[in-house]
Amino acid sequence: MKAYGVNELRKMFLEFFESKGHLAMKSFSLVPHNDNSLLIINSGMAPLKPYFTGAEKPPRTRVTTCQKCIRTGDIENVGKTARHGTFFEMLGNFSFGDYFKHEAIAWSWEFLTKVVGLDPERLYPSIYENDEEAFEIWNKEIGIAPERIFRFGKEDNFWEHGAGPCGPCSEIYVDRGPEYGVEGGPIADENRYIEIWDLVFENYEVDNVKSKTDLHIVGELENKNIDTGAGLERLAYLMQGKQNIYETDEVFPVIEAAQKLSGRTYGDDEAMDVRFRIVADHVRSALMIMSDGVRPSNNGRGYVLRRLLRRTVKAMRELGVTDPVMPTLLPTSKAAMEPSYPELNDTFHDVSEAAYGEEDAFRRTLESGTEIFDLAVAKAKESGSDAVSGEDAFKLHDTYGFPIDLTREMVQEQDMTVDEDAFQELMEQQRVRARKAREALGDLAW
Ligand code: SER
Repeated sequence: MKAYGVNELRKMFLEFFESKGHLAMKSFSLVPHNDNSLLIINSGMAPLKPYFTGAEKPPRTRVTTCQKCIRTGDIENVGKTARHGTFFEMLGNFSFGDYFKHEAIAWSWEFLTKVVGLDPERLYPSIYENDEEAFEIWNKEIGIAPERIFRFGKEDNFWEHGAGPCGPCSEIYVDRGPEYGVEGGPIADENRYIEIWDLVFENYEVDNVKSKTDLHIVGELENKNIDTGAGLERLAYLMQGKQNIYETDEVFPVIEAAQKLSGRTYGDDEAMDVRFRIVADHVRSALMIMSDGVRPSNNGRGYVLRRLLRRTVKAMRELGVTDPVMPTLLPTSKAAMEPSYPELNDTFHDVSEAAYGEEDAFRRTLESGTEIFDLAVAKAKESGSDAVSGEDAFKLHDTYGFPIDLTREMVQEQDMTVDEDAFQELMEQQRVRARKAREALGDLAW
């Protein structure tokens, strides 16, 4: 097995699918275009939705991409597991009414075992519970023994995007080896058996999906589609023999820079390592989303970015660094990402100014708020409560600009909570006051 770099793997993937007749398209922006259902692009297929639904004609019926994605639903897991990242790159091959299951399965196998050279004995496919066609292909055409093919239900192996085309999927897992967990395939241990590729066979159409277990299939598609997604970072860290996605060549330089800033060594202490990994992940996500035009704000995408930047600064503080960190970390991430995304250069001046400004503002907030936060925690503990009072949480938010998310995260670290009901009640009272004030002002203005 060769330790291919991220850039190399991306190129190998795109070239492989080009050799199978696909058109390689550039990654779309992280900011969705004409799609109000999505805040940020979160999968390779998301920007291609109009081709899947038939609303637009694709430039070719076979397309391959390496798409920039951000998912923050699992942000609490970042740094703690080997595989959760907010920013990641999804490799995909897509068929719009062209090839279907046979080719999708055969080519994924060919790429993994022949092109990148993963040992077939380390690979385990899963299929949707009653997808006998996929079972037959894996078993008879690829030659995988039945006991190595796992069957999962709708939660895991059915893909839909609200309404429209959807279908069962087949996932491919890599066994990292006995040192990572118990034997028994992906059903036994998801830390040992890492999912690297999801092959979706879109052959149904659903109307409004309420939940995955309550799918209302309205019919079969005349033109069946293929949508696949393979995690580039996951593939890279497995190929590079690294422990997790934060240690690949595109991410690790930020950990190295954070080591220098903090004087600490990555690998010495698990609690500190989590912070190093959070920093490496978040700085990269912030860089990439800012380069696609997003700026920090209090709502939507801007707020996602604000949280990423603030969590970075906070994690660096916990590593002992109180001086500004962005002027070191952001250019480091940019240098690591630039070979793959040379366009980062065009916007970096503006991006860095905005990021440094946000860090400065947040440092001021932290300086004034942390003392008040500590007092609020001490007060709660003294009174025998494990919840910071709603009043204190509100004061932090209202007077010190200390965001409630941050208060929540910080109390959690002390195994405490916030009195949410009381906090929400005070927020509501403030909204009423603000509305009355606006109305009064409106009268005056009139
Ligand atoms: N849409 C599927 C996923 O995101 C495959 O690309 O996993």
